[in-house]
Amino acid sequence: MSQAKFITFEGVDGAGKSTHLEWFANTLRQRGVDLLVTREPGGTPLGERLREILLHNAMHAETEALLMFAARREHIEQVIRPALQRGTWVISDRFSDASFAYQGGGRGVALQKLEQLEQWVHADLQPDLTLLFDIPIEIARQRLSNNVSLDRFEQEQGVFFEKVRQAYLARSQKHSSRFAVIHAEKTRDEVQASLLRIVSSL
Ligand code: TYD
Repeated sequence: MSQAKFITFEGVDGAGKSTHLEWFANTLRQRGVDLLVTREPGGTPLGERLREILLHNAMHAETEALLMFAARREHIEQVIRPALQRGTWVISDRFSDASFAYQGGGRGVALQKLEQLEQWVHADLQPDLTLLFDIPIEIARQRLSNNVSLDRFEQEQGVFFEKVRQAYLARSQKHSSRFAVIHAEKTRDEVQASLLRIVSSL
């Protein structure tokens, strides 16, 4: 049997990542893959409490980065690693690339500090595949404007998201072997066609 895969979904808020994630997971399940879907920040009882704090309380950018990685440490220990070890695939709605994009790109936390945290928390674990839903920021903002309540990140201005987007793209170039960049402004059918090709390649 081939090894269980660790797949992450990334992108700026409003890229449609969560909808596509659901479809992607269902498609894999229909093909007989034993699969667990989880998210960050969150994924464990403690992680979900940290998520509440992170999404609704103002804090220093480095505190934000540290809490993201604290939640991640727990998530890896309690959920991700045990699943992969028993042969269950894991799809996570965001992982460390989000910290490089949001805390690094968006908030300006030094890349070197984030790299240290990454080394500390998961030196020996990286996603096998990261799907980056890339979209022009104006379109993502329009999609978000239909939401009634926006969290602390979603309330940020366009310039913040532009920096997040660029940091994601930089990260996808640096780690090109595990990244697939999806043009998320396309129609749902077109995006699903790209995802289906990826499912088949897995
Ligand atoms: P998100 O997946 O957008 O949740 P939802 O779809 O329910 O709104 O994640 C919540 C926010 O957390 C998102 O705006 C990005 C942010 N985030 C970071 O800033 N850094 C991180 O490391 C992670 C995992 C998320």
